[in-house]
Order: sequence, then C-alpha cells, then structure tokens
Amino acid sequence: MKLLALHTKNIFWLPVIIIVCFLFQSCNSNNNQKKFRIGFSQCGDADFWRKSMLGEMKRELAFHPEMELIYKQADDNSPKQVQQVKELLNDKIDLLIISPNEAKPLTPVVEEVFNKGIPVIVVDRKIASSLYSNFIGADNYQLGKMAGEYVGSLLHGKGNIIEVAGLPESSPAIERDRGFRDGILPFNNLKLIQRVNGNWVKPKAQTEVGSLKDKLPETNLIFAHNDVMALGAYEACKDAGVDNVKIIGVDALPGKGAGMEFVDDKILTASLLYPTGGAEAIRNAAKILNGQSLGKETLLQTLVVDSSNVRLMKLQSDKILNQQEDIEKQQEMIVEQKRIYNTQTSFVYVLTCMLGLVIFFAVLLWYSRNANKKINTKLAHQNEEISRQKEQLIEMSAKAEAAHEAKLNFFTKISHEFRTPLTLITGPIDEVLENPKLQTQTRQQLSLVRKNATRLLKLVNQLIDFRKIEFNKMKIKATETDLVGFSNEIVQAFQDIARKRNIDCRLLTKERQLLVWIDTTMMDKVLFNLLSNAFKFTHDNGSISLSIEKNSDTNQAILTVQDTGIGMTPEEQVHSFDAFYQGDYESHKGSGLGLVLTKELIELHHGSINVQSKKGKGTTFTVVLPLGNTHFSTDEIGEDETAMFVDKDNNLFTADLLPAQDVVEDKPIEKNDGDRATVLIVEDNPELRQFLHSQLSAKYEIIEAENGIAGLQKTFDNMPDIIICDVMMPGKDGLTLTRQVKSDIRTAHIPVILLTAKATAEQQAEGFKNNADAYITKPFNFQILNQTLSSLLSNRNKLKDHFTTEIPAEIRSQGNKKSDRKFLADFASVVENNISNDQFVIEDICKEMGISKVQLYRKVKALLNTNINEYILTARLQKAKYYLQHENLTIAEVSYKTGFSSPAYFSTVFKSKLGVTPNAFRSAGN
Ligand code: FRU
Repeated sequence: MKLLALHTKNIFWLPVIIIVCFLFQSCNSNNNQKKFRIGFSQCGDADFWRKSMLGEMKRELAFHPEMELIYKQADDNSPKQVQQVKELLNDKIDLLIISPNEAKPLTPVVEEVFNKGIPVIVVDRKIASSLYSNFIGADNYQLGKMAGEYVGSLLHGKGNIIEVAGLPESSPAIERDRGFRDGILPFNNLKLIQRVNGNWVKPKAQTEVGSLKDKLPETNLIFAHNDVMALGAYEACKDAGVDNVKIIGVDALPGKGAGMEFVDDKILTASLLYPTGGAEAIRNAAKILNGQSLGKETLLQTLVVDSSNVRLMKLQSDKILNQQEDIEKQQEMIVEQKRIYNTQTSFVYVLTCMLGLVIFFAVLLWYSRNANKKINTKLAHQNEEISRQKEQLIEMSAKAEAAHEAKLNFFTKISHEFRTPLTLITGPIDEVLENPKLQTQTRQQLSLVRKNATRLLKLVNQLIDFRKIEFNKMKIKATETDLVGFSNEIVQAFQDIARKRNIDCRLLTKERQLLVWIDTTMMDKVLFNLLSNAFKFTHDNGSISLSIEKNSDTNQAILTVQDTGIGMTPEEQVHSFDAFYQGDYESHKGSGLGLVLTKELIELHHGSINVQSKKGKGTTFTVVLPLGNTHFSTDEIGEDETAMFVDKDNNLFTADLLPAQDVVEDKPIEKNDGDRATVLIVEDNPELRQFLHSQLSAKYEIIEAENGIAGLQKTFDNMPDIIICDVMMPGKDGLTLTRQVKSDIRTAHIPVILLTAKATAEQQAEGFKNNADAYITKPFNFQILNQTLSSLLSNRNKLKDHFTTEIPAEIRSQGNKKSDRKFLADFASVVENNISNDQFVIEDICKEMGISKVQLYRKVKALLNTNINEYILTARLQKAKYYLQHENLTIAEVSYKTGFSSPAYFSTVFKSKLGVTPNAFRSAGN
C-alpha cells in the first residue's frame, strides 16, 4: 500500500514536470531561434546616413531570425568605440560589424576580435589593417575621382574649388580627397584653392566655410565629402551673401531633409550616391556565419545625382522608401502576428498540456479506482481469511487449552488412580509389619514391597510435579520462613536412617535464624530430594552435611548439600539436571526426576543450583536463593495461612533409603484409655474407607459415610469430634462438605482433615480457604494421620480448657477457628452482660444467640467441655475475684454485682469453689 502511495505520488509529479518542461521549451523556442549574436559597433548615429544604415540592417534582420543584433554607437568618439568593441567581445558575440570612427585608433581592437576567431565585417570606413573578414562600402577613391571629373566637366575645366573634407583620420576622407584631386588633375584651370576639415558634420563645415569669406566670392564650387557638410557650406555661403557657388556633396540619400532632396531643391548642384551597405552587412554576416564563401571586399556602386537624374532617382527612391515603409509595416505586422501566434501557440500548448493532464488524471483515476477495487477485493479476501484463521486459531487454542487441561487432568487422574491403590498397598503392609510376631523373611519381603511401592509413589509424585512445572501450572507461593529451622526439621527426618547406616548427617550453620522467602511445600521437596539423593549415593559410615550460609554482599542464602558418596564423572555432572539424558552410567540411575524437579523448583524461587563432583570422592550441590521478596511478583507471594502447612511426608523420601527390614518402626499403636473421640470418615472408596476404619477403630469411635451428602447428614446427627474427608467424591465433594460444616454454628467447631490425591499448593490453599484444619495427601502415612488427628483433638481440648479457666474478656485473643471464637465470644459476652443478674437463666442465652437449647448445650460442651451453669458460676466467681482484688467494695456489694442472691450464699459458694472465704481471699492480697 505504501509502495503504491509512493508510486502514485511519483506518477502525479511526472506529468507536471513534463508539462513545465514543455511550456518552458515552448517559451524558449523563439529565443532559441537566435543562434547568432551579432555585435554592431557604429561610430555614431546622429546623422541621417547612419540612421539609414541601421534601418537597413534592421529591415534585413527581419529575414534572419537566427540573428540577434547587439547595437552600440560611440558618438563619433574613437576611444569610446574601442571600449564598446571590447564590451561586445565580452558579450560573447559571434560576429562583429563595425563602422570605425577613425582607422588607426580602432585597428588594434578590431584585430584582437579577429584574432580570437570572430569574423569581422568592416562597413563604410576602413581600419589600418587587413585583419577583417569582409569590407562593405563604395570605392571612395573612385567616388572622389568621379566627383573631380564631374566638377571638371561642370566648370568646363576652369574655376576655383574649396574642398570640405571629412574627419582626417577616417578612410573615406582620405580616399575621397585623393580621388578628387586625381579627378580634377586633368583640368589645369581648375584650382583647389582651399581645403578645410568639416569632420563629417554640418556645424563644423559651416564654420570652416564661413571663415573663408574672402575666398568665397572667387570660389566657383565647393566639394564637401558628404551632404550634411555640403549643406553647412551652402548656409555659410548664404550667410556670406555669396550665391553663385556650386556645391557638390556625397551620399545622395533619399527622403526628406536628405541629399537627394537638396539636389532637387537646387541647394546642391549634385551629390554622389554613397550607399550605406546596412543590408549587405547583414546578408554578408549571415553568409559568413552559415559558412558560405565570401570575397574580402563587397563594393557598392555609386553615381552622380544631379538635376538631370534627380527626379528619376527620387521617384525610384521614394518608391523604394514607400516599399521599405510597407515592408516595415508588414514586418511590424509580422512581429505582431508572430506575437499573437506565439501567444496562441503558448495558449495551445497550455491547453494541450491541460488536456494531457486531464487525460492523464482521468487515466490515473481510472487506474487507481481499478487498483483500489482490486485492493479492496483483496483486502476483503484477506479479512475473510484472517477472520477464518482467527476463528481457527480460537478453535485451535480452545482445543489446545482443552488438550492441555485434559493432559493435566489425565496426570491428576493417573495420580489419583496410582495413589489410592498404592495407599492400599502400603497401608496394609505397614499394619502387617507392625506385627512383632512376623517372621523375618516375610518381614524382609514385605519391607521390600513397601520400599518399592514408596519409590513408585515418589516417582509418580515427581512426574506429576514435573508435568505441572512444564505446563506452568505449578505456581510458587512464597512465605517468609526461617531457613535454619526449616532445614533442621528436614535434617532431623533423616537422622534415623543416618543412625542406622552410621552416616554422619548434620546441619552446619553459623546462623541462629535466617529468614528466607520460600514456598515451603516446594523447598521441602528440594531439600528432601537433595538429601535423599545424597543418602542414596553415600556408602554406610560416610558423611552428609547440609550447610546454610548468608552472603550479605550478594544478599543471598547459600545452601550446600555435601556428601562423601560415589561422585559423578564430568559428563554425569553436565547431565545431572537433564530430564531426558540417556546416559548408561550407574551412579545417576535412581535419581529419577528428583534433580530435574529440584532445579525447576529452585528456578521458580528465582534461585540457582549447581553441582560439583569428583568420581569416588563425593558430590556437592549448591543452591543459591535471593534474600528478601522483591524478586517475587505479587501473585508469587503467599499468605501466611498456607505457609503453616508443611508436608512432612518425609517417609516418601526416606523409605527407600534403608534396607527393607528397617523401614517400618515397630511402635505399637497408642491405646486409647480415656473417653474415645468420635471420628467420621467420609470416603467414597469402600476399600480405603474400610482400611481407615480398621486402622483407627482401636483408638476412636468410627462413623462411616460413603459420600459428601451422607457425611454432612451424619455430622449433624452424630456431632463427631473430628471428620476425615476425601475431596473428590460424587455428589457433594469434600470442599463443599467442609465449607458447610464450618459455616454452621452447630458444627463449625468440628475439625476437618481433608484427605486427597489432589496435592498442589493451590489445591491445599483451596482446602484451607474452606476452613479445613489439615490437608493430608494420598498416599498417607498412618503415623501422620494419627498425629494430625491427635494434635487437632488436643488443640480442641486446649480451647476448652482455656474457656473454662480464663475470664471471658480474654476469649477473643485465643482459640482456633474464627466461627468458634465468635460463638464463644458471643456466648461469653451474653454471660458477662448478665453477670449481676441473679435471675439469669439458660433460656436467656438461647434467646439472645438465636439457637436452641440443645444446640447450645452441645456446642458449649464440645468447645468448652463444661455445662452452661457451671460456666456461668465460674464466670461470676472470676468477676468476684476481680472486684475483691481491684475494687473497694463490700462483700455484699460484690455479691450483688456478681449475681448472687445474698452475701451469705456468695460466701458459701466462693469458699466451696476456691477453698477460702471472700474476705480471706481479699486479705491474702491475691
Ligand atoms: C556619415 C558620413 C557620411 C559619409 C560617411 C563617410 O557619418 O559622414 O555622410 O558618406 O559618413 O564615412
């Protein structure tokens, strides 16, 4: 598109450029016709003869449009003319026409022009050199001679003559004088009595002739070198009163106020025709410039014009003049026509260009519309294609998403499928192994089965974790944890194996405490993996250490797991974190996905792990974790609540590190010697349910429910002390059941242990969100389940003790579950508010709390393990103790303030419960 735009832009400018060039060309066409620059240097142009010359040239130029005339006149001043010739030379003329004022002064500059290869035409007057191309003019010697001969015959060979000559240094003056003298020579009685210089101009001639007053009366004829000087001589004679002198001039120009008219008017007796040669000059210039050959001289004809031929001459010349005028007019008209033609031509050009432009733009418009149409069609197709591809992509991504989900679900299901049967393998084996009467061989075989089942479980777990990391499903939830305490717990878990295999296993650190942001569930796996790996490859009697260091410079925690095991070759080291490495080395076998998973888990912590090992010497894994939590994103930081849960299923990591017969501890199951607590087992798998039942029935009263719905019903029916519940069940799942149990005031106090194959941190967090008290993943170790059951029940008992021994006001800061605390706080506050009310009865509490008497009894019993009246009495006595200690009240006042109907009854009850009378209590300063 961009390319097209650029293209269109260029196309737009192209015709404009062409048209501008075209117009420019057309405007210049006339100028371009002027191929030659002709410089014309005229000595002066004040007189009619010179004007005629220029007129002739201009007329002739009309026939030579290729020539351009650059004209300069020097006012009859030779230096000025020299200067002007130089200017013409600089003006890059192609040819010079010159009529020099004087011969000698102009010669050098004309030679210079000629020597530069510029043709020179000399007109009328000559230069003192032959370095010119062509001379045009009449033969002035012949003209002078013709004048002399004519005078001789006119005066019949006798008389006095005065000669008025032209500028002494000009060639016509010299030649005419010489010719005239030769012309009159044969006539002995003709005398040239005076010669004056008229310098070619009338005033000078008039003055000079006027000064010859004494000679004029005896003068018969005056010969002036041109008609204007002849007129001056005539006027001088007239002024002198001499009227019989014949005057002869030169030029015989036609037209008004010119020589021919003077002859006709008898002012002059005769004049010798002296053509200007203007037309010839232009013609010859054209010839020279066009390379035609030309002689050195172009001689013009001359003749005497006197009364005998003047009329004819005048008629002819008038006619010529008229014709010339006509020609001039026609030329003007031609010029005008040419101008009109040029204007019209330009107009036509412009119109043509505009038409061209219109056609061009029409074509362009048509073309671009077509192109646009095509582009639009193409775009529409592309859009369709894109939409189709988008839909396909959406469909594909949905499919991929579904496939992705399916894969994860598949792994979850597989884990579920694997874990439940494996639990059913390890569980009964554990039970059988607990039998002290078991034969050694059977014990060994069963231990082997237990060990391999555990190993299989570990592998399944690792595989699932690994897949989860691969699918980005495993999300880190870091909480601030004391790494020293955390690691110590894990090291302790290995002490038993260490002792049995005589391996020195210890935690080495200078730190008392090192707070690190870790996902405890993940880091648990990391350290168990590294340590179990170390135990796996370390011979008995070896040593294994877990060191913790704080590097304050780099702000990092450095964990080192070092063993004195079999070590690795360099190649094994390189591939130790490679999941798909197929090396056939023995030492690396058995690590499974543990190290790969470990590395992935550490990288989720933005940390790093590396290995250093020497074959036969041992291996050191170094884990570097950044301190602080700024390297985690907000969603990578967990809440404290989830951090409280740490999967201590270390047996999974340690079970296969011992010889088979040592796996199972031979501890007898704790026997229940008090009131047996009731455990509700909600599990859809009958085998597992049965198994749990058989395992727990020795210690607890067992109620079974096969699904969530039955489980909830049985909770309300039996008010169990604790619930063990599967998560994934048809109908109502374990999470829903937990939520419902915990949100009902009657059952909120009952601890719930969720038991499931769903073992991710998110899933556990989900369980805790629904207020589960513990989360145990399948397969589970019975000791852990037992431990969890006992600790939850004992916490419950502590809560009971707390509420029965402390004053109610302190209830808020203690307790386990929020809903339980709320219930107890509400209950305590109702009692507290009525502490001075001796009419206060249980029904008042039920009314205020909005629950039934039965529910109140059960709940108080369950939470506080006391009856309500007992609680109220204890509360009254606690309050009384407070008044006795802190208030200056009489015994009677205290008794009424604490709801006893009389001081005597108060004293009796006080003494019976606390062993002292109120007075004794006060004076003892308790
Ligand atoms: C004009 C003129 C003519 C004469 C010619 C001689 O300037 O004086 O009258 O014939 O020059 O060069």
